[in-house]
Amino acid sequence: MPKKSCEEIKDESRGLRGKIVETLLSEASHFEEAEYQLLKFHGSYQQDNRDSRSARRKQKLDKEWMFMVRTKMPSGTLTAEQYIAHDDMAEKLGNATMRLTTRQGIQLHGILKGGLRNTVRAIAGCGLTSWGACGDVVRNTMAPGTPINDQAHSATRRLADEISEHFMARTTAYSSIWLDGEKLDLSADDTAKEVEEPIYGKHYLPRKFKIGIAVPPCNDVDLFSQDVGFIAHLENGEVSGYSIHVGGGFGMSHGKLETYPCLAQPLFYCAAEHAAAACEAIVTVQRDHGDRSDRKHARMKYLVAERGIEWFRRKVKERINFPTEPVREVQLDTVADTLGWHAQGDGKHFVGVYVAQGRIADSETGETRSAFRKIAGEIDCSMRVTANANMYFYDISEEDRDRVNAILSEHGLVTGENFTATRQMGHACVALPTCGLALSESERVFSGLLDSVDVILEELGLSNDSILVRMTGCPNGCARPYNADFAFVGRAPGKYAMFVGGSSAGDRLAALEKKVILFDDIPGEIRSYLENFINQRQGSETFSEYWGRTRPEATQPTPEQFHLEEGDRT
Ligand code: HEM
Ligand code: SF4
Repeated sequence: MPKKSCEEIKDESRGLRGKIVETLLSEASHFEEAEYQLLKFHGSYQQDNRDSRSARRKQKLDKEWMFMVRTKMPSGTLTAEQYIAHDDMAEKLGNATMRLTTRQGIQLHGILKGGLRNTVRAIAGCGLTSWGACGDVVRNTMAPGTPINDQAHSATRRLADEISEHFMARTTAYSSIWLDGEKLDLSADDTAKEVEEPIYGKHYLPRKFKIGIAVPPCNDVDLFSQDVGFIAHLENGEVSGYSIHVGGGFGMSHGKLETYPCLAQPLFYCAAEHAAAACEAIVTVQRDHGDRSDRKHARMKYLVAERGIEWFRRKVKERINFPTEPVREVQLDTVADTLGWHAQGDGKHFVGVYVAQGRIADSETGETRSAFRKIAGEIDCSMRVTANANMYFYDISEEDRDRVNAILSEHGLVTGENFTATRQMGHACVALPTCGLALSESERVFSGLLDSVDVILEELGLSNDSILVRMTGCPNGCARPYNADFAFVGRAPGKYAMFVGGSSAGDRLAALEKKVILFDDIPGEIRSYLENFINQRQGSETFSEYWGRTRPEATQPTPEQFHLEEGDRT
């Protein structure tokens, strides 16, 4: 039988149910293709342990099937109790680690099929959800992580909550399969109570959809990588409106010229009260015009890039009845987080704690899991996952600061603001062993790579320079490599494509410098670019500024720049 397309799978899914219930009730070790696709809408990816693949193949054993379950929370905000609930799940149902994600969510890995329902129930039980954390819907809505409680930050977080709620799929599948009733039975397949999807319709969106909100000058949400990016404008400290950007997105495939990363482009400015309505108009243009015939060409970025921003703007305006203006000038400075201790402005304090590659675990290099659990359990505070997969603890009283510091140091941790600026910003995606799409290592080799890079930075006197380095195990780009100063994108074991020339403000795309380099050669390559930088540096310009000055063509991206080395481009 020919493989069904995702559009057919959605069409036949009875409100995203498919045979999920049947498979959960069966002895099957894993889900078939259609349910694997549908499961994503429910917040889970079916995976297998790739470290054990070849040994098990030799022993003629089935793959070691397991699941990743992702919790979404708008702006990355969660209570200490909700964090502890996740820590419990990681211990009892997962692989005893958690992964903070670069979209301000939390992933649990290594969940077995028999534990999947209990995991989803536990997430819902603590007041959060995995519904729509993956799949062809609006994903977790991002908003500024920095725990400042001024009007602007509060307003953007409220907007993130509003968008999140508004775009939640309405089908009853999630509650009936996972939440209703202690034990799962076939009655969960009952579609009698099924409801219409007012925004998504029967086929949901052509592809995933990502939204982020920034309060200038901070660009921690990496605004231009989003399908829709809102930049807040303030009048007398209040958000008066948003400059909306559309059509960002980073996935591509090596060598396939028709796939390429895009930065979001300016759409229009509108008053704050119309932001959610503008968002719905944008989402529905993509719903109705996005390319459903090819998933590799289905993101809204291709619609905007190929039909043109003028066309897209016209289509959005046909669906709204409020005034718009051209986007307003604004300067965003950095995608970095604010690590270390800071006053919130309301008498309380927050601390940004570095988490290497977002992995919360107890290891020889530090016991992030034990420390965070203790802080969440003992200290009166709230928590927020950052877009660089670090953690903010906030609403901490002056008296509790020493205790937090003591807990961190008892577990071998520091907050990280004394690390090189490059380490503070750098990030790598999950990749092996869980991600089925990984072509090479990423998370597991990145800290070691940064150790070598740190030595070079120190030798060249660049320890305080913010040089954005990102790595992914394949070109899908989950760690947002294509706007970094240096990015290494997996091609094969130990081999990476090297991209150079994005910007630490996140507002410029990099270009392919070398189609293939070996992992071991990465530090040497970085060194030679940095040596040129310091030889040609003017004043105190950053590496990003130097690149923009010396390679002005870098600001006009073409699809070729992501696939062909400079000399091969026309
Ligand atoms: C076609 C493109 C993509 C596919 C098929 C894809 C697939 C996946 C898979 C399978 C995982 C789970 C890996 C694991 O935890 O074991 C993952 C994680 C993730 N992806 Fe993607 N992804 C794509 C593009 C992107 C892009 C462009 C972004 C953001 C710009 C993104 C953001 C994330 C995030 C935040 C995670 C969670 C883990 C982390 O923070 O690294 N993904 N993706
Ligand atoms: S970039 Fe590729 S390897 Fe890394 S997590 Fe995403 S899909 Fe997996």
